[in-house]
Amino acid sequence: MNGTGDEVKLESLVILSQDVHAVFGGVVPEIASRAHLTSIVPVVNKALSDAAAELDDIDAIAVTAAPGLIGALLVGVCYAKSLAFTRSIPVIGVHHMEGHLFATALEHRDAVPPFTGLLVSGGHTLLLDVEAWGTYRLLGATRDDAAGEAFDKVAKLLGLPYPGGRHIESLARSGDPARFRFTRPMVRRNDSRGSDDYFQFSFSGLKTAVLNAVHGSTDIETDKSHIARGFQDALIGSLVEKTFRAAKEYGRTRIVLGGGVACNSALVEAMRERTKEIGATVFAPKPRLATDNAAMIARAGLFHFERGEKSDLDLNAFASQPIPGLVAA
Ligand code: KG4
Ligand code: ZN
Repeated sequence: MNGTGDEVKLESLVILSQDVHAVFGGVVPEIASRAHLTSIVPVVNKALSDAAAELDDIDAIAVTAAPGLIGALLVGVCYAKSLAFTRSIPVIGVHHMEGHLFATALEHRDAVPPFTGLLVSGGHTLLLDVEAWGTYRLLGATRDDAAGEAFDKVAKLLGLPYPGGRHIESLARSGDPARFRFTRPMVRRNDSRGSDDYFQFSFSGLKTAVLNAVHGSTDIETDKSHIARGFQDALIGSLVEKTFRAAKEYGRTRIVLGGGVACNSALVEAMRERTKEIGATVFAPKPRLATDNAAMIARAGLFHFERGEKSDLDLNAFASQPIPGLVAA
């Protein structure tokens, strides 16, 4: 990452293969942290060589400090602190979801505040009103499963590989939307701004409805694509409706999507369609920046660095932590 403010250039982007997780049908924490240990040095070296840079060229190191699997986070935090200490440069702890929020801006110059942000990953579903970078009004989150988690669990029910989001998406393409209709979670016709669930999400009930449909099917091979379609439509319907409400309420004409589920083109299309009437532009990152990557962490780190914010060498990793910069909703 090179540059200042919103004018930054991506010099390298090394994506670490997640094949190790596919083998086990999910992330095994101990295996993930061991994979981090063995990969961190070669990955950093590769990033430097792709960028034709040397450690001497680096002004600051950004590292994901929370939230996530503690073992994997600790590997990164310890390595980043040691490297920063030996080079006498600052280290900046970054919140993983703040990284996702910045990812789209790396590709789209206009994906900058003020905007309505929807972050949909394997562990989180966050609806935010972003007045300015670093000032986040949290409007809604999931009460149970995250959107990506719901995709992964339903994929498992349908016998698809992990991570299942993209497999559901491609299966759903050939599915008939009318064969299995599931209720859009937490969306009611008479919802009003004052109601508790107005901006909130919940996906575990939908997952159970899918499970019942799978069990009730007499020809699952044929029904599979129709169930995937019904599930995806319902989940997307909920994400889109809540985001539309937020953009309308706060008068935002930009909507920024982030997190692995933002790879889903049916989601992006549905969001564009629904928010046309308020004249909103929907920005979605390309898959390489939507799913977990180091560039988004560097971008968020740069923002803090330019504000003169850095971490001390007692920086620690945390499994869960609210996104920084929260203001009252
Ligand atoms: O942000 P991310 O890479 O990692 C986390 O921070 O969790 O998100 C991973 C999630 C997985 O649940 C995966 O199934 C989902 O993103 N995902 C998708 C698609 N591609 C990835 N979900 C729906 N449709 C997709 N095309
Ligand atoms: Zn993520």
